Amino acid sequence: PDPISWEFAWPYYLGALAFGYLLGSIPFGLILTRLAGLGDIRNIGSGNIGTTNVLRTGNKPLAAATLLGDALKGTAAVLIVSSFYGQEMALVAGFGAFLGHLFPIWLKFRGGKGVATYIGIMLGLFWPAGLIFVAIWIGMAVLFRYSSLSALSASLATPVILYLVFNRFQLAEMALLMTVLLWAKHHENIGRLLRGEESRIGAKSGSSP
Ligand code: G3P
Repeated sequence: PDPISWEFAWPYYLGALAFGYLLGSIPFGLILTRLAGLGDIRNIGSGNIGTTNVLRTGNKPLAAATLLGDALKGTAAVLIVSSFYGQEMALVAGFGAFLGHLFPIWLKFRGGKGVATYIGIMLGLFWPAGLIFVAIWIGMAVLFRYSSLSALSASLATPVILYLVFNRFQLAEMALLMTVLLWAKHHENIGRLLRGEESRIGAKSGSSP
């Protein structure tokens, strides 16, 4: 297709970003734990609204539903926008969904850490990258039993593999941007890992402040 001028295209990019953001900002962990009568997930365990922390309530189906919801909102944002406007606009929508999950306006911009949504976005944009992320996450989780360490490792490897193995340069750049944000959101986890204080997968709430 002919290159379209920025003057004409920017409202579409902004629209894709906003659409992704709105979908991404739905806090499934918070909504589902509230609906289940478990109170505010932000007062439990690490205080995070994601799957790992929902698991600390001991309710595995609820954690699975959180994982699914937080992932599929990213997949949905990407697939909907790509079906109308193509892959490049889908990248923008995916990044918007990631920003929405991390910084939701409804929660005063204090959202999750991005792991499930990262996976969902990758599955929608280029499914092998999503599967690779999941495989590395599972491998690291089996070895060390830290959710955060698994996510940090998988998110580091994904852009590198996209770049070096698949030569998907634009996608690799977008993934790297998400990785930087994911790492920033995990700064407390990184501190706990370095101090040997991070709670392991399967531990109930309390051990991870
Ligand atoms: O997916 C988030 C995970 O990497 C860490 O979660 O609750 O231990 O801070 P949490």
